[in-house]
Amino acid sequence: MWQLVPLTLLCITSVVQGLSFRASTNQPCFNISKPETPVLDPKWIHSLEKIYYPVMSTVHLYRVAVDLLQKDPKDVRLSTVYYDACITWTLFGNGTSVQRGFNGLTREYETTPLSDNPDAFTFVGVGGNKDIYAGTLNTLLTDNKTFFFSAICLSNGEMSWGVGSTTPTLTEETKKIVLDYATNLGFNTEDFTELKYDSCKNKN
Ligand SMILES: *[C@@H]1O[C@H](CO)[C@@H](O)[C@H](O)[C@H]1NC(C)=O
Ligand SMILES: *[C@@H]1O[C@H](CO)[C@@H](O)[C@H](O)[C@H]1NC(C)=O
Ligand SMILES: *[C@@H]1O[C@H](CO)[C@@H](O)[C@H](O)[C@H]1NC(C)=O
Repeated sequence: MWQLVPLTLLCITSVVQGLSFRASTNQPCFNISKPETPVLDPKWIHSLEKIYYPVMSTVHLYRVAVDLLQKDPKDVRLSTVYYDACITWTLFGNGTSVQRGFNGLTREYETTPLSDNPDAFTFVGVGGNKDIYAGTLNTLLTDNKTFFFSAICLSNGEMSWGVGSTTPTLTEETKKIVLDYATNLGFNTEDFTELKYDSCKNKN
C-alpha cells in the first residue's frame, strides 16, 4: 500500500504550519528492547565514506536540515530544504559523526554508544545550537550491505525515523521493507520524504 502514500510535497504545508506531528504521540523507540544479537555490523557501517539519506520521516528531514543550517526553525521552510538538502553522513568509529549538505555545509556530532545496546547511540552537535537536533538513534533493521533503518528519539520528545543507504536511492523492494517496518512500529508513514540527489549542485 505504500505506493499510495502521498509524497512529501503534499505534507510540506502541514510542516510549515507547525511542527505538531502525529508521529510524536506514539513512542516506539522507547519500547524497543535490546536485540538478542547485534542488528548492525559496526565494521560495515564505519567503512562507509558516505551514507545517503534517501527516505526519512518528514520531521526528521526538517530537524536535520535546520540543524545543518543553524537557523531558527521558524525561518526555515521545508520546501527549500527539500530541494537543496542533499544530505549525506559519515559515522566514524571514534565517537564523531559528520553531516554534510546544502552545497558544502557540514556539522559535526558527538556520538556515545548506549552501554546496554550496541545498535543505539546518543548524538549531540558540537558547538552551535544543540537543542534543534539531538537524541538517541537506534538501528533496528539492516542488510549490512545497502541500507539501515533507524528509529530516533529526539531530545525534544519527537519521534522520527530515517534510512541510511549506500546509494542515493533505495530499490522499490527496500523502500517497501522499510515503510512496512516503520508502519509496524507505529509511525505514521504518510509523513515521509524521499530526498533526491540527482540535482545536487555539489555532490558532497
Ligand atoms: C510501551 O508499551 C506498553 C505496552 O504496549 C505501553 O503500555 C506503554 O505506554 C509504552 N510506553 C511508551 C513509552 O511508549
Ligand atoms: C549484520 O551484522 C550483525 C553483526 O555482525 C549480525 O549480528 C547480523 O545478523 C547481521 N545481519 C544481517 C542481515 O546480515
Ligand atoms: C574522528 O575521526 C575523524 C576522521 O578521521 C576526525 O575528523 C575526527 O576529528 C575524529 N574525532 C575524534 C573525537 O577524535
